[in-house]
Order: sequence, then C-alpha cells, then structure tokens
Amino acid sequence: MEWTGSIRQVVDDIRVIFEGDASGHDLDHTLWVTGLAKQIAEQEMKDSGKQLDLDVVMLAALLHDVDDPKLTGRLDGKLERAEKILGRYQVPFKQQAEILQVIREVSFKGVDSVTPSTWEGRAVQDADRLDAIGAIGIARTFAFGGSRGRRMYDPEEKPFMDMDEQQMRKNTHCTLNHFYEKLFLLKDMMTTVTGHTIAEERHRRMEQFVHDFLQEWDESMGQIAQWTGDERVS
Ligand code: ADP
Ligand code: NI
Repeated sequence: MEWTGSIRQVVDDIRVIFEGDASGHDLDHTLWVTGLAKQIAEQEMKDSGKQLDLDVVMLAALLHDVDDPKLTGRLDGKLERAEKILGRYQVPFKQQAEILQVIREVSFKGVDSVTPSTWEGRAVQDADRLDAIGAIGIARTFAFGGSRGRRMYDPEEKPFMDMDEQQMRKNTHCTLNHFYEKLFLLKDMMTTVTGHTIAEERHRRMEQFVHDFLQEWDESMGQIAQWTGDERVS
C-alpha cells in the first residue's frame, strides 16, 4: 500500500491519546492487539491460502480504540481521531474505508456484537478479545473495575446474561461478574482458527483464577462471619 507514513509514526501519534488511561485501554493494549492481529492474519494466510491486507490489519488494530467512548466520553460513534490519522498520511481511500469498517465491527457489544465482514476484521477482533482474557485480561479487568471504583466481588450480585450494548454500558456490577458476563464467553466467539487455539489456554487460566479466587474468598469470609455476624458467604 502506498502511503506517506509508517507504523512507527502512527504509534507515536496514538501514544499521546492513551496517556493517563487507567481503564485497560492503554497503549500496551493497543500494541498487544496489533501484534496478535498480525500473527493471526499471517497464520490464516499460511494455513488457508486466504489473502489478507496486512497494512489494513495493522492500521485498524492500532486505531481500534482511539475513538472508544470509554476514552472520549462520546457516544456518537464517530471515528474522528482514526480518520484524522489516516488522512494525515494519505492512506488510499479504499483502504481507509476498509480500516474504518474493521474498527466499527470489532467491538464487543454483548448480544449486539457482530462477526466482521472481512478476514482483516476477524483477525483484529480475535486479537482484541484475546487481550481481554488470560493473565493479562484478568489484570486489565481489575484495573478497569478499580478505575470505576467497583467492588472486586459481591456474592449477592448475580451476573446478568445476554446483555445488549446499552445494558452493558450501564452495568456497574462487581468485577468478578464480568468474567461470566463477557470474558468466559469470548473463547467460543473467536472467528479464526488461530484465535480460537490461543484462546483455549488463556480461557483455562481464567477459569483457574476464578476458581482460586472464590475458594480464598470463602475461606476468608467463613472466618470473618464468625465475629462480624456477616452472612455474605456464597
Ligand atoms: P472491546 O475491547 O470489545 O471494545 P470493552 O472496551 O468493553 O470491549 O472492554 C475492554 C476491556 O475493559 C475488557 O476486556 C475488560 O478488561 C475491561 N472492562 C470493560 N467493561 C468492564 C466491566 N464492566 N468490568 C470490568 N472490566 C471491564
Ligand atoms: Ni481494544
């Protein structure tokens, strides 16, 4: 693809956007997603002979969160920052349109989520979801919960299943519920073989973590209940 920029320049452009984020949408997340998306795209090309445009994959991954409402506070769905950066380096219009389409289709929106219409989109979506699960996913989830002042766990709060985009946005549940409401569902929502393979191991790590967390919770709470009269033991 002919354009006047480089991946390094785009990384520098987006660095300033993510500075100071404490909700798990920081530059590291974006770089991990970009690396994973490239890996998935290359593997899919090798295994199935599909032709993917790696420039589209990498630029879409680098720009997938720059206009996220969690960062911008805006809900109008506009991709202003992404468009500005693509325009700055004269990315051809065809690829610009493809990249913006990937960004629109990538996000997890509960029952409103979509399977991307292109393989480039599938690679980026699987990569984004892979970074939500596993050890790093666990860390991001608690970082996000902390940034919103949420309790880590509340045994009295049962997870809500099958939420749509609006319900997900309004949800203020304890952080552990997020595993049931989203993170445990992601493995079976992968739409590339490579993504699904990587997801299996990360999924297993999360299951182990939640199991250990609940066990420690019960052990500690069981003791505390004796002298506080607190019955909140699951
Ligand atoms: P996507 O990356 O598909 O757009 P989000 O931006 O909603 O999804 O979420 C990205 C990450 O932010 C999640 O994987 C999770 O780590 C964290 N997160 C989002 N919502 C919550 C929540 N309600 N509780 C805890 N963590 C959350
Ligand atoms: Ni993301």
